[in-house]
Amino acid sequence: MSRIPLIAGNWKMYKTGPQAVETARELARLCSDVQGVEVMIAPTFLSLPLVAASVKGTCIKTGAQNLYFEKQGAFTGEISADMIKAAGAQYVIIGHSERRQYFAETDAFVCRKIKAAVEVGLKPILCVGETEGQRDEEKTFSILDKQVSDGLKGFGRDELKDLVIAYEPVWAIGTGKTAGIEQVHEVHQYLRSLLETLFSRDFADQTRLLYGGSVKPENAKELMGIKDVDGALVGGASLDANQFINIIRYNI
Ligand code: PGA
Repeated sequence: MSRIPLIAGNWKMYKTGPQAVETARELARLCSDVQGVEVMIAPTFLSLPLVAASVKGTCIKTGAQNLYFEKQGAFTGEISADMIKAAGAQYVIIGHSERRQYFAETDAFVCRKIKAAVEVGLKPILCVGETEGQRDEEKTFSILDKQVSDGLKGFGRDELKDLVIAYEPVWAIGTGKTAGIEQVHEVHQYLRSLLETLFSRDFADQTRLLYGGSVKPENAKELMGIKDVDGALVGGASLDANQFINIIRYNI
């Protein structure tokens, strides 16, 4: 089963609309001859329609960093899956550790968000990962098990055919610390077998598993070369087109 690697940039709360469009255009120019890798950028909600329009027809896809699971209504400050789709996005990041940490997102919330995304045909990128304390207490696998099992509770495998899972150890996000090769390998292997247990062998084989946490041009090749790693979710190093392109071209 061949899984096309996905290199996704999470721009977090950086860049105004014009700044985001400028970087996106520059990236599209640099990416024009890239093959065999899917590229996605997730700007802020405000920049999303502008960025999506500016990269239309190029090899770059766009995504949102979050959504709210209700279809519409009196939910001040929230954005629905339909709105994201209408803005031109194909992907949505769900359950990022910063959302879990600062906005109290639970696995049950994450599950409802994934449901809302797949209902409108958005591809969900479910983020999972342990904190440093949880790793020290040897709870990594049980935490991941819970995040994945509860986040995907009640779904049939057909609904999740476009699911992507991003393993992002919380202690490696924005810290410059990257998980070791062996650590990444054992977690990705674990996630693959968990998907097999929860759904099926074929489902596990087709689902892309990204690594995230201080991915940089200098370590991308090594990380992407790990078995069961099918791409990267990149924060800081995706903000600069010249840096991000060197991650996208990790294979060269
Ligand atoms: P980082 O962020 O690459 O800056 O560590 C990754 C992420 O939060 O998705």
